Amino acid sequence: MTQLAIIGGSGLTALPGLTITGQQVFKTPYGEPSGFLTFGTYAGHELLFLPRHGNPHTIPPHKVNYRANIWALQANNITDIIAVNAVGGVTDEMYPGRLVIPDQIIDYTWGRGHTFFEDGLAHVTHIDFTQPYSEPLRRLLIQAGDQAELPIYAAGTYGATQGPRLESTAEIDRLMRDGCDLVGMTGMPEAALAREMDINYASVCVVANWGAGRGSEAITMESIRLTLDSGMQNVVQLLEAAIPL
Ligand code: HPA
Repeated sequence: MTQLAIIGGSGLTALPGLTITGQQVFKTPYGEPSGFLTFGTYAGHELLFLPRHGNPHTIPPHKVNYRANIWALQANNITDIIAVNAVGGVTDEMYPGRLVIPDQIIDYTWGRGHTFFEDGLAHVTHIDFTQPYSEPLRRLLIQAGDQAELPIYAAGTYGATQGPRLESTAEIDRLMRDGCDLVGMTGMPEAALAREMDINYASVCVVANWGAGRGSEAITMESIRLTLDSGMQNVVQLLEAAIPL
């Protein structure tokens, strides 16, 4: 049976429409997750919600304890994760406000806890990451987005940068040459850790701004917040259409 968790990103520290049935502080061998695990029902279905940056939003992307978050979810028998990520748009189709269900990742992050397979191993493990996201979960989200007539794009390569600063124009140019369509700071190592734990994982990206040098206006926190506010309303509609899975 599917046991779903939603990891909320910037702009989604709580899930509107979730009837909360319990909250739990959870300790893991890697420390504490970003916040309480919130258990609840959503459209009549049980799920678990975890805000990646804490609630209130205080943990920057490079300080998120990704291992504790994913460990806590697998310890609660989660089989599927829908991750919500705010991103910048790199290629032309990725305009602010758009929802994108990426299908590939390039990881530029460093110094984060990237793996559970590190110490005290009986044998060395290399996960297959050819398809970094779960294709069935991606398909389901795309269908739900089409059904709800949302501005959704069904593919894209997510470039995961270290942050917390935004990029330079030359860095965005390089990401584009590398084949990235989107840039964000939280996609990795989360996706790989979920794969290590054998949890189906897909991401709903909300384009918050044009990447550096791509738009005509300066990137401000205020303009990002405004775009995310309306983008997250679309994410909530998408989740309503996608659940039950
Ligand atoms: N760059 C990196 N991460 C982001 C951006 C961006 O432009 N916008 C939202 N998250």
